[in-house]
Amino acid sequence: MTDLLRFMTAGSVDDGKSTMIGRLLYDADALYDDHIEALSKGVRCKDGSMDFSLVTDGLRAEREQGITIDVAYRYFATPHRRFIIADAPGHEQYTRNMATAASNADLAVLLIDARLGVQTQSKRHAFICSLLGVPRLVVAVNKMDLVGFSESRFREIEEEYRQFALRLGLKNLQFIPVCAVDGDNLLHRSERMPWYAGPCLLSYLEHVYVAGDRNLVDFRMPVQRVVRPSSAFRGYSGTVASGVLRMGDDVVALPSGFRSRITGIYLGAAALTQAVAGQSVTVTLDDELDIGRGDLLAHPGNIPHEYKELEVMVVWTGDEPLVQGSVVQLKHACQWVKARCEAICYRVDPDTLRQEQADALNLNDIARLRLTLYRPIFADAYSRNRSMGALVLVSATSNDTLGAATILERIDYDAVLKSDRSVTEQREIVWHQGQVTPAERQALPGFRHQPVVLWLTGLSGSGKSTIAFALERRLISRGTPCCVLDGDNIRHGLNRDLGFSPLDRTENIRRVAEVARLMMDAGLIVITSFISPFRDDRAMARSIIGTEQFVEVYLNASLEVCEKRDTKGLYQKARAGELPGFTGISSPYEPPENPSLTIDTSSLTIDTCVNSLLAKVTSLSK
Ligand code: ADX
Repeated sequence: MTDLLRFMTAGSVDDGKSTMIGRLLYDADALYDDHIEALSKGVRCKDGSMDFSLVTDGLRAEREQGITIDVAYRYFATPHRRFIIADAPGHEQYTRNMATAASNADLAVLLIDARLGVQTQSKRHAFICSLLGVPRLVVAVNKMDLVGFSESRFREIEEEYRQFALRLGLKNLQFIPVCAVDGDNLLHRSERMPWYAGPCLLSYLEHVYVAGDRNLVDFRMPVQRVVRPSSAFRGYSGTVASGVLRMGDDVVALPSGFRSRITGIYLGAAALTQAVAGQSVTVTLDDELDIGRGDLLAHPGNIPHEYKELEVMVVWTGDEPLVQGSVVQLKHACQWVKARCEAICYRVDPDTLRQEQADALNLNDIARLRLTLYRPIFADAYSRNRSMGALVLVSATSNDTLGAATILERIDYDAVLKSDRSVTEQREIVWHQGQVTPAERQALPGFRHQPVVLWLTGLSGSGKSTIAFALERRLISRGTPCCVLDGDNIRHGLNRDLGFSPLDRTENIRRVAEVARLMMDAGLIVITSFISPFRDDRAMARSIIGTEQFVEVYLNASLEVCEKRDTKGLYQKARAGELPGFTGISSPYEPPENPSLTIDTSSLTIDTCVNSLLAKVTSLSK
């Protein structure tokens, strides 16, 4: 069987997309008879030739009557390959359709009108492709006849678009100059553009290698249905979302964690020895497990991440706006879960790619969100697994689709540490073991304490810096070697390149934890004062520093108190909208769940706070 290429097309209004598809199908002999008849009977173009746009315009008419779906799918085949085209209408308000079409496309054919060049809409298309991980783009620069088949015009567009796409991380780009009405460079190389030495469109589509882009590593199968035709047979049906499943494989069912072994794989009535991504199969297991719709099968050594919160990029297609606190339904694989929007981290301007602050998302906005889930889900980051990292957002009240979202990599600290190690291994760096032991260090005069990291966390204005420096003063006065790593100070030097986006904050904390660890190893008590608002980031710091030596101290002062203090005037600025992503106002603070020490800094004096920290240090050194 020849393999299948799913590609999508997108263009702006009037750039000739319908004509191009119609012509491609006609020339490739892939039109149905009724379409050909419609073409020959249809209104002819000015020069008497057939109007190929009628092929897809027929679909558009249906669409306008509200009968069909938003994206038109069209199937055709050549001796080399089978194709499914997802045709998304080009008008701006149809961003949602483009997102739908892109979600499982191997490749996108984007049209640019040679006269108009790269438009905002063309950039939006590239942006959505990058968001939804479409791995390859073909950019058809159309209407070359109207620019005199000019090579320099083509190169100019190519250069501009390539630069933009590169910023989005899109590297697999093929630019083809075409004249769709006449068929130039669609099926045959155009004689009118002898300067173009690349492939024509169909030949590129027939031969481009895409199998390597699919995830065949992480086996995931969401259970769609439990099949029980008789008491003798119990099977689980679903589509293999990614990876490969073989007879005899050990599997784990999530969320229960029950394990079993695959005893049968059926495609209809046919028994298979293996099933691969995209196949809808029924499997049987060695044990009778309590598995239901929405459960997930995976290999025990490779299970997806369990998310209670998600960071996603969303294309908002709802008519109702999204605001912080909105509750929506998420559809993920075969299950539904409710989620609350904790923060709109930023909106992206698709033209400039600049991140801007947003209080609400409106139709066609593209933004990064932080969501809390009402129930955890097992999922993968979209960049790793497109089928298990995609979400549809649906209104909790009207059931209207509100958007499509992709799960962003939340940092899996074990994996980061592991991959860090593998990076250092690759670079052939070795760890040099020093000769001095921690016990020897502690035997030095003045070292009568246990080196630890006192990790102060709390809102801006909760007193972290004040208490950290007061504690340092007291420790040094009594002869205990120590030092402070302070958020504002570190951002003047070591971390001056970092801002306050969630990812930058994570990197801020990672570097600080590494430095704190080095100083602690040198024998100091290290006091850190960072907002460190995210639990996951503090968990990362704990794993870098060591569970025993990481002493989490929560400086607990309510937002009201901190805002009233407003020592740096930042809350006022944040309320005025001048400081995007300010912790407590427009970016969340996640209090520690189980801190070593909580200090209520709104009611206690600085001295009392410092005393309780000193008592903690003393108790640790015993
Ligand atoms: S953290 O979130 O990455 O841990 P860190 O403690 O380093 O933050 O820096 C916080 C300090 O940066 C605050 O005390 C405040 O003075 C300043 N700041 C500037 N912009 C922001 C912001 N958007 N959110 C929080 N703090 C900010």
